[in-house]
Amino acid sequence: MIPQKTVQEILEAAKIEEVVQDFVTLRRRGVNMIGLCPFHTEKTPSFTVSPTKNIFKCFGCGKAGNSAKFIMEHEHFNYPEALRYLARKYNIEIEEVELTPEMRAVQQEEESLFIVNDYAQKYFQQQLFDTDEGKSVGLDYFKERGFREETIRKFGLGYTTNQPDAFTRQATEAGFNADYLKKLGLTSQHGRDFFRNRVMFTIHNLSGKPVAFAGRIMAKDVKAPKYINSPETDIYSKSKILYGAYFAKDSIRKLDECIMVEGYTDLLSLHQAGIKNVVASSGTSLTEGQISLVKRFTPNIKILYDGDPAGVKAALRGLDMVLERDMNVKVVLLPEGEDPDSYLQKVGATAFKEYIDGQAKDFILFKTSLLLSEVKNDPVKRAGLVRDIVGSIAKVPDPFKRSFYIKECARVMELDEQILVTETNKAVKQHLYKRQQERERNSGTQVHIVEEKGTGGPGPDVELLPPEAAPTKVSGDEFREKDIIRLLIAFGGEIYDEKENITVAEYILSNIEELLNDFENPLYLRVAKQCQQCLADEQPLSPQLFIGHEDTAISKLAVDVLYSPWDYSPGWEERDLYLKTQKMPELNFSKDSESSLMRFKLNKLKLLCEKNQDQIKELEAGGDISEMMSLLKVQAKLLRVKNELAQKLGTVVFK
Ligand code: CTP
Ligand code: MN
Repeated sequence: MIPQKTVQEILEAAKIEEVVQDFVTLRRRGVNMIGLCPFHTEKTPSFTVSPTKNIFKCFGCGKAGNSAKFIMEHEHFNYPEALRYLARKYNIEIEEVELTPEMRAVQQEEESLFIVNDYAQKYFQQQLFDTDEGKSVGLDYFKERGFREETIRKFGLGYTTNQPDAFTRQATEAGFNADYLKKLGLTSQHGRDFFRNRVMFTIHNLSGKPVAFAGRIMAKDVKAPKYINSPETDIYSKSKILYGAYFAKDSIRKLDECIMVEGYTDLLSLHQAGIKNVVASSGTSLTEGQISLVKRFTPNIKILYDGDPAGVKAALRGLDMVLERDMNVKVVLLPEGEDPDSYLQKVGATAFKEYIDGQAKDFILFKTSLLLSEVKNDPVKRAGLVRDIVGSIAKVPDPFKRSFYIKECARVMELDEQILVTETNKAVKQHLYKRQQERERNSGTQVHIVEEKGTGGPGPDVELLPPEAAPTKVSGDEFREKDIIRLLIAFGGEIYDEKENITVAEYILSNIEELLNDFENPLYLRVAKQCQQCLADEQPLSPQLFIGHEDTAISKLAVDVLYSPWDYSPGWEERDLYLKTQKMPELNFSKDSESSLMRFKLNKLKLLCEKNQDQIKELEAGGDISEMMSLLKVQAKLLRVKNELAQKLGTVVFK
């Protein structure tokens, strides 16, 4: 583990422009530097680096953060790996903190599992290349299937004999712990080899370490399963692994596309033919974890299906999930009876590439035509199809893409576009409502509903509301909370008042202490509490503290508010005036803090007044006059304070 002190040292030493310039050519523009974004394809630069804030942000794809974040994204490192990279670059020595005994035990066990698997892989490989049986049976099988020796070696293919415990005996003799062998599924509870008389495939994680194995039976028409696989272990979680991803990742990133096949042999064939941006789902339906893995490298995914329409229909069901993740999905149907491996071997690489490029169809349009060919003119089935398609379109987060699909699908289905617009809008509402409920359930707090404009082409705008439900009240407080949080993040450590020697954070927090628990946005509340904690610990506040925060939501927010200080604030006209007539906005934080605070309080007061007013009405209706009178007094006082504040702010809100 890297000590916190060293993390700080690394982050301070790492100059964002230097770190980025190892990968991206930057030009000066004003105080910032700009270049072509390395995370998405673009012709005009929207990738900016701010040396003064020590952060980067791409206005095209939205990626943003500090040096560590850049390296994580660019090199696909995790956080500690990125820090180690930067430490090397800046010659900072890392004294690893002692791990707790439990952590060390876990780490040691994982390392041991990798070592055992590594041994197993070498064993299988050695059986394949260096034994007579392996050569005549296993190697012969692979060669027969068209795999070249370099491919076989690169992917760690192997062979096991039919002897009951040849591997287990050799491994035990070599000193490997029987518990680990069993845990990894290499050895059965009775001390027998799990993989016997099979050709072997090694499954690697993203760093190229062997995490599991699959063994394929060579004989045709036997009762035993064609493939058997290692069980899930601490180092192998099926739902998060894609076969071949380690060998494909660079190519996927370069070509900005990931081809997905089903089988191990499909992947090997394609890779061997020079089509390297391929991963294999290993025959299971896609999981969230696998999609996230692909999404780290590209949003574009092309799925190759064996030419078996029944199977394809089943597979299509799982794909809405990919749409939800805002990925562009294309599907290719291979000719009947072929899988990618067989078809490639049949027609050769060039024709194969031409075929998949020519046949690739956008998923939604593909699904539409496929299902349409089945329903023919049956009106009931047609209605079902419309619902199905509309359900898929509604999951696409990008409104422009949605309206494109609506147009195209309406055309293919020979439907009135307006009907699809209406239906999609309903489905979007339902979908978003469901998602919002999930979020609320997950966070335990209420999430505010924001209106989305201009969705789904012509037709009514989609609001994120439950269908037929009353509009949820938006208090507008989140804007004000965000404004306050921005000041805390950007200027929290600056001196607010020199005479009294207090910082902006001290000034703001002392003013809203009693209101903190009324914060509506839990993320903003976390930032405010973090500031309180720092003040209590006498730890200085700086933007870097938040940008490099381990809570990624906080670090993302920090970059966000530091880059766009004005774009969300309702008081922007006034600020615009500051921009023209006063100091630089960056230096205006004291005045900003005051007005932000006032606005925040004003809104809270307004809500209090409304609540009070409702109560007064109830009491009046119930005839409870004395209670009502006392509340009226409270109301008068609230209104007075509110108007005082409003006048100070220059916005008149008599009401
Ligand atoms: N699979 C599996 N277990 C099985 C059958 C299949 O794990 N009993 C997975 C494997 O990852 C396999 C994929 O599903 O690669 C696709 O299965 P299939 O098309 O039957 O096999 P192929 O990969 O085409 O293998 P081959 O070309 O050797 O027949
Ligand atoms: Mn096959």
